[in-house]
Amino acid sequence: MSEHGISNLSREDRVFEPPAELAAQANVTADVYDRAAQDRLGFWADAARRLTWGTDFDEVLDWSSPPFAQWFVGGKLNVAYNCVDRHVEAGHGDKVAIHFVGEPGDTRDLTYAELKDEVSKAANAIEELGVESGDRIAIYMPMIPEAVIAMLASARVGAVHTVVFGGFSSDALASRVEDCEAKLVITADGGYRRGKPSSLKPAVDEALAKLGDASPVENVLVVRRTGEDVPWNGDVDVWWHEVVDESSTDHRFTEFDSEHPLFVMYTSGTTGKPKGILHTSAGYLTQAAYTFWATFDHKDDDVYWCTADVGWITGHSYITYGPTANGATQVLYEGTPDTPHKGRWWEIIADKKVSLFYTAPTAIRTCMKWGEQIPAEHDLSSLRVLGTVGESINPEAYVWYRENIGGGSAPIVDTWWQTETGAHMITPLPGVTAAKPGSAMTAFPGVTAEVVDDAGTPVGNGEGGYLVITEPWPSMLRTIWGDDDRYVETYWSRFKAQGYYFAGDGAKKDDDGAIWLLGRVDDVMNVSGHRLSTTEIESALVSHPKVAEAAVVGAADETTGQAVCAFVILRESAGDGGEDVVAELRNHVGKEIGPIAKPRQVMVVPELPKTRSGKIMRRLLRDVAENREVGDATTLADSSVVDLITAGMSGAKADED
Ligand code: PRX
Repeated sequence: MSEHGISNLSREDRVFEPPAELAAQANVTADVYDRAAQDRLGFWADAARRLTWGTDFDEVLDWSSPPFAQWFVGGKLNVAYNCVDRHVEAGHGDKVAIHFVGEPGDTRDLTYAELKDEVSKAANAIEELGVESGDRIAIYMPMIPEAVIAMLASARVGAVHTVVFGGFSSDALASRVEDCEAKLVITADGGYRRGKPSSLKPAVDEALAKLGDASPVENVLVVRRTGEDVPWNGDVDVWWHEVVDESSTDHRFTEFDSEHPLFVMYTSGTTGKPKGILHTSAGYLTQAAYTFWATFDHKDDDVYWCTADVGWITGHSYITYGPTANGATQVLYEGTPDTPHKGRWWEIIADKKVSLFYTAPTAIRTCMKWGEQIPAEHDLSSLRVLGTVGESINPEAYVWYRENIGGGSAPIVDTWWQTETGAHMITPLPGVTAAKPGSAMTAFPGVTAEVVDDAGTPVGNGEGGYLVITEPWPSMLRTIWGDDDRYVETYWSRFKAQGYYFAGDGAKKDDDGAIWLLGRVDDVMNVSGHRLSTTEIESALVSHPKVAEAAVVGAADETTGQAVCAFVILRESAGDGGEDVVAELRNHVGKEIGPIAKPRQVMVVPELPKTRSGKIMRRLLRDVAENREVGDATTLADSSVVDLITAGMSGAKADED
């Protein structure tokens, strides 16, 4: 084991070369790295000029008062014009922008010309409701085209949107509306979830009631999706079909400064209330658009599908903005992967001939659990590039994804980035990189990532430390909404002397210098003075044939400082576990990583507590492991999971050895 406790993270030694045919026609080739390294700002200026500007910029980057960046200074553009109108003007009005697939099976195709009309009407309608440039709009929607239309309409009029995930509670909505003082809320009566209508509008009413007289909201614009009855407040509520559908398709827009605020996306910090991450116009769009084109090798005839919700940063950069800025055709799906059956995703891919597919490792592991016979029933031969995001992908899931979804040949791009970074930062390029399963590989051209030790000194190959970004990048967050001090403190104080952005993730450079992400630093454990990665132990557990999913936390331990506690979901074929399987799994981890990594406890559980975006809430597991009362579970997708775990875990404890 190395000094950092990171040994042989991958149990998959194969390296997957880019397919020759793809490499021969790839949008970007290996020389792009040199070009960007030699002239980083020139490289980003070229990427920015793929957009259409009203006024050209005269300075690429103003970094005179770090960490407050200004990109493409002096330039003006309209984000929505870049995502929509310019494709129509270029003669692509008949190209499908969105293949919408509703959960109940309804479908709707929107061409770029139709999208332009819809966005223009919505822009006119929201201006009519009194929204002006700089005002905030909260968007609380199911995954329907109007969610994307609302975001683009907001951008078109220069308003600042904050999309609140439709699965969040009215409390979460209220706190976000309050924090950014949203003047307008755009919502729907509801959406479809697991075969049934699921209401949304009542949660908006609750949020507004909670805010009471202090509510900044003047109107609620409501899309009719399910047709269910909704409570109505005639002073505030307005139907989308009454005002938007009646508005003109002719909307005259303004061009805004490069640094005009585009959106605020709330994300949880380590402590305290969610942080409103602010992104601005030109730099954000430049990097979202360029990375979409390069990382997925997007070509005009591709059909792209990202399974994220627009309520998360992935849905912003890689549904609403990146693909449309490139004039892409994409699938927008309302529902879950198992409604009405577990082959729904693969059926959609076959039906729409999806060629670029972007999802999360947790989804892949769920599909693994259901078995490879399910995707095998569908024709997935249209797929040519697969992506993942959100956490490291364990090598077993990677290989399963490649073999069973990618036909054994489609390259996988494991994209590391954050709400804060706005766009891809570390990723393979599908026509360039020989990819190692489990590694995000290399910083994107024009991005300067490093792995440093406690003192901020870059570590050598084969060593681990903290992931930092050493130079500003176009789609970086500009601040935390209303809290510049917290912005400086959270991201720029850890390596203040060096001026590095602290990502909060641990990482390792392998012997070839490839980057392996090791989870949040707060999830890196220290057991008897050895640093252990939760990711590494989870990966070891999941490599066991009986394990479907695993989560590992470091729990306080009198003797060793921290101890490894594992929560596992067994595969259906493994039966219900029992003492034998616990011993077997502990030994397996011991064998895979080293005795120090053997979990003190392995708890066989029916579910893991996940946020609605699919992230495992390790904080809650730590509470369970440390026999504490379980803390705030309001962001859990299903709060009964914690009860299930607490009730089901006793008896599965391993004896200390
Ligand atoms: O820990 C990293 C992990 O997700 C964090 C960012 O979360 P969020 O802001 O919600 O954005 C998720 C979607 C971009 C990071 O600090 N993360 C994201 N992608 C990866 C990852 N960890 C490892 N590998 C990835 N590809």
